[in-house]
Amino acid sequence: MVSIQCPERHSTADSLDRDAYRTTVPVLGLKAPPSKIGKYLKEDVLKRSLLNVPRIASVAKLADGERLILLEVQSKEELPHDVQAFIASEGCDLVPHAINLDYSYWTADDILQSTLPESLCDGSPTGFTITGHLAHLNLRDEYLPYKKLIGQVILDKNPAIRTVVNKLDTIDNQFRFFKMELLAGEPDYIVEAHESDCRFTFDFSTVYWNSRLHTEHARLVSLFRPGEVVADVFAGVGPFAIPAAKKGSLVVANDLNPKSSEYLAVNVESNHVAERVRVSNEDGRTFVERVAEEVWQRPFPALGPLQSKREAKSRKRAGPTKEVSVDADNRVVRNISHFVMNLPDTAILFLDAFRGILKNISNDPAFAELYATMPMIHCHCFTRELEPAAAERDILERVEKVLGVRPSEALNFHLVRSVAPNKEMYCISFRLPKEIAH
Ligand SMILES: C[S@@+](CC[C@H](N)C(=O)[O-])C[C@H]1O[C@@H](n2cnc3c(N)ncnc32)[C@H](O)[C@@H]1O
Repeated sequence: MVSIQCPERHSTADSLDRDAYRTTVPVLGLKAPPSKIGKYLKEDVLKRSLLNVPRIASVAKLADGERLILLEVQSKEELPHDVQAFIASEGCDLVPHAINLDYSYWTADDILQSTLPESLCDGSPTGFTITGHLAHLNLRDEYLPYKKLIGQVILDKNPAIRTVVNKLDTIDNQFRFFKMELLAGEPDYIVEAHESDCRFTFDFSTVYWNSRLHTEHARLVSLFRPGEVVADVFAGVGPFAIPAAKKGSLVVANDLNPKSSEYLAVNVESNHVAERVRVSNEDGRTFVERVAEEVWQRPFPALGPLQSKREAKSRKRAGPTKEVSVDADNRVVRNISHFVMNLPDTAILFLDAFRGILKNISNDPAFAELYATMPMIHCHCFTRELEPAAAERDILERVEKVLGVRPSEALNFHLVRSVAPNKEMYCISFRLPKEIAH
């Protein structure tokens, strides 16, 4: 029987010797003219003895134009008797053949499994996340002596990747991005990622981005209606703000990290939603305190929904959308309908900033009509409670403590994802209580 094994090469070296992965596998081949190959490959008797190895063709072409059907044995004696009899009856020759394999043949897993010490081969270090052209790993300590080698293999084996980095710490800085170390490839951290038909450009080494939140971004955006104003308090580079604007909502998007708001502005331009998105760079608390008044004094034009061909089609399928409030002349939108607060570690602590956000505008004659419905707040948070009822109780208690009242209108809890074995990320949504806003 033929066994194809990546050459063993235990090493602690940082550098990769690609030549060490060359090997030759001797097999036996059944020589036949091209016209007979199709027929032989269909013969049940032969099928069991054909060479069946991933990424190796079972028929080789010889210099004289003949073909070799590769068999999974190295000598005639290893073939079952009925196969030997069939070959004899057809008058075919059996000839030795060498399959030459090199570094390009092996998968990243093959190479690492044969290269890393056995004690490290149980778990695979090759799991990584791709953002644009960049692969980021989160290597456990025991793999660190081999980090460069692992990075190089991943780079070699994934043509779309140009940069491989390892995360250096847990995500504990204020702006929620990772410190990272270059393992292989170009030190180019400016990536282009795609989500919800939008293009996002950003420097992965200075801003927050998490592709795993794609579904949550899409879920919240699906709640926003064209013409509604959405205030994104911790907007990052825009994964809520830009799809919302593309859908036809009007957006005030803020982030304290100057780099995030810089790239947010870039993404607003490149996605052609500059008319619909205003970007700011300030603390979330200040933003919440001032933004309702700001939109009231400097309303958005009541722009119709953005129409791309695909958008128009999908909107047609979804049916008519409800009207949203505009002012008496039907020209502007002055009220905020949604606040998004995706800073799960601490967003709940910002909720007291909503106290009195509408008090300075509530005497305006248009106020009662335009704010007949209070804005929704969508606040992300973590909880250590794994059982849903306990998690909801825990979150609601913390919200009530900071907000000052227990929200009840349109109250909803959504489990976003499990971030660790004992840590869940939730989104609590509720309508801002009137008595708080005033
Ligand atoms: C978890 S990220 C979410 C980003 C984006 N909304 C998303 O879903 O990808 C939180 C964002 O809040 C920003 N941030 C942290 N503290 C802030 C604060 N006090 N005020 C405003 N933004 C803040 C960070 O820079 C980061 O971009």
